[in-house]
Amino acid sequence: MKKTYYITTPIYYASGTLHIGHAYTTVAADSIARYKRQRGFDVRFLTGSDEHGQKVERKAADAGVTPKQYVDEVVKKFQDLWKLLDISYDDFIRTTDDRHEVTVQKIFKQLYEQGDIYKSAYTGHYCTPCESFWLERQLKDGCCPDCGRPIEMVEEESYFFRLSKYADRLIAHIKANPDFIQPVSRTNEMLQNFLLPGLEDLCVSRTSFKWGIPVEFDPKHVVYVWVDALSNYISALGYGSDDDSLYQKYWPADLHLVGKEIVRFHTIIWPIMLMALGLPLPKQVFGHGWLIIDGGKMSKSQGKVVDPHTLCGRYGVDAIRYFLLREIPFGSDGNFSNEALIARINTDLANDLGNLLSRTVAMIAKYFDGAIPAPFKRGEEDELIEKLAKDLPSAVDKQMEALHLPDALAEIFKLIGACNKYIDLTAPWTLAKTDEGRERLKTVLYNLAESLRISAILLTPFLTSTPQKIFEQLGTPTESQALDSVAFGGTVAGSLVSKGEALFPRIDVEKELAALALDNGTV
Ligand code: ME8
Repeated sequence: MKKTYYITTPIYYASGTLHIGHAYTTVAADSIARYKRQRGFDVRFLTGSDEHGQKVERKAADAGVTPKQYVDEVVKKFQDLWKLLDISYDDFIRTTDDRHEVTVQKIFKQLYEQGDIYKSAYTGHYCTPCESFWLERQLKDGCCPDCGRPIEMVEEESYFFRLSKYADRLIAHIKANPDFIQPVSRTNEMLQNFLLPGLEDLCVSRTSFKWGIPVEFDPKHVVYVWVDALSNYISALGYGSDDDSLYQKYWPADLHLVGKEIVRFHTIIWPIMLMALGLPLPKQVFGHGWLIIDGGKMSKSQGKVVDPHTLCGRYGVDAIRYFLLREIPFGSDGNFSNEALIARINTDLANDLGNLLSRTVAMIAKYFDGAIPAPFKRGEEDELIEKLAKDLPSAVDKQMEALHLPDALAEIFKLIGACNKYIDLTAPWTLAKTDEGRERLKTVLYNLAESLRISAILLTPFLTSTPQKIFEQLGTPTESQALDSVAFGGTVAGSLVSKGEALFPRIDVEKELAALALDNGTV
């Protein structure tokens, strides 16, 4: 039996369009899912849409349509974007799916019946854009401490969830499981800022608007959108339904990948809901940083958004996936700028990887009629390349096990960079001039083709079309494209290379920046 691996992204608010910051979470999760599949895991990768709440109800009213019509349109666009970005999710959960609504109602009822949810009245602050309740002492200058926008006073009859009852158990769990919240700085933040000062019971229903899942036994209440949304991770597995085989197989989740501002919901409310239900907790919640633009979080309300469709149209999907995964230190914030994006494409993809492939293929065509030669005479330059190529699979694994995605890519590009130097050092054009030199050249060209093949295998989780293009140009047989053939020596001598298009055309920086400036400064 294969080992299972259950990975989730947050479910995205169906209240607007997605920008490249949202795409970051999903591309990262997709690469982890693809990596685990390549390593032989039985992976379940879940994403979806968060469709209820006051924010959506208001947007729909503004647009003059029903909330359901509104979210149907938005969700279609989400799915189109994930298709464009080659996101390999196994399931897409919508919080308006029957399968989800029924489960949320059951969860709410169970918690009520066992006394963990009780009825009272709420008077306090609410941030509608964040769908968050805040205490007076938590506000920043009277505004939401997360997004800085004005909060609203809410006064209504509500159900409450006894978060306080489970606080000590949660603190003990977090302390006993240092991997539960990652990176570790976020563990400290949760303990210091929220858990240790003491938890208040959470308001978990609203009566002042309609667009939500009704509380089954008291339908003038709708379930608080975060309780609704967090349940997606198990409702999508059929928890509480007649067929819970997926739940039995995949729960607890191995990884909830989320942005740093929603770590709080995933490491306080969600684990307490699970504890109250008597269910195991997810193994890890990883809070990644933000894509920053002009010094602030990329967000629509700040008028600072970059459209992933435009970016993919201009530079190609793999270039965008590469930039997101390589440029932003995983777990920290990273800057988005046109300059940084173009520099990454030109330096890493066009110059280092693209040139290496085109030079290697051209030299094999020129000196050996297009057939990859069998290695022959060895030289002192071979050792470094062969060692890097042999060690690369375990170096990548080591980084990926720690979720250091940029470092995993950096390891692969270390080999690619070393290969370019290896060409300069061995000077194939000189070797080709003598019979003895040609014997040495066979090893050089074999090693280059082999390093490219190994790199392409290891790039497969990150870039979805480039590895195949590399295999095609190298004439790599299908059986030498899989991870189990990654060991050094898998290139079959005699394979016929074929010159293809440049993997990543070099971008003329000045022209491109000028064209972008005409287009409002950023893409
Ligand atoms: O929070 N940089 O949905 P959402 C990096 N519905 N990541 C960013 C980003 C940026 N500039 N902007 C957004 C929600 N994100 C809830 C989740 S889960 C049960 C409910 C990320 O559409 C953000 O950090 O506001 C989050 O991980 C994801 O996009 C969805 O954000």
